Amino acid sequence: MNAALKSGLLVVLSAGLCGFVFLSGRKTEEKGNMAKLVGVDFEVFGRVQGVFFRKYTQKKAEELSLKGWCMNTDQSTVTGRVEGEKSKVEMMKDWLRKTGSPQSAIDKAEFKNEQEITEISFPNFSIRR
Ligand SMILES: *[C@@H]1O[C@H](CO)[C@@H](O)[C@H](O)[C@H]1NC(C)=O
Repeated sequence: MNAALKSGLLVVLSAGLCGFVFLSGRKTEEKGNMAKLVGVDFEVFGRVQGVFFRKYTQKKAEELSLKGWCMNTDQSTVTGRVEGEKSKVEMMKDWLRKTGSPQSAIDKAEFKNEQEITEISFPNFSIRR
């Protein structure tokens, strides 16, 4: 191999290495940004009052580090809001749709006003009434 070819090869290799370092740096950064915050309002229908639904909702929300609130309505539903990391909010939505408290029987859960947010509006997950 002649000298010119050797140094050419070296340049290509170091450029490649720099690119790799740059890209892996970016990937880590993107991962950090992926902890996107969202907020969503919910309402759960079915046998959800008198079955410790709010208490279990609070427990699940705390487990997922979500903030917000829930309460009974006069229409025999439970409404509320959750805010937090998008993936955790998705888990909470699934739980509200399918699991609930042991004695509950969920007909459906509705979600409204789902939005990306820049900061959490609540200090905890509270039961309002
Ligand atoms: C949760 O936050 C609310 C304010 O939104 C406050 O009134 C309540 O005392 C807090 N509860 C706990 C257990 O810290």
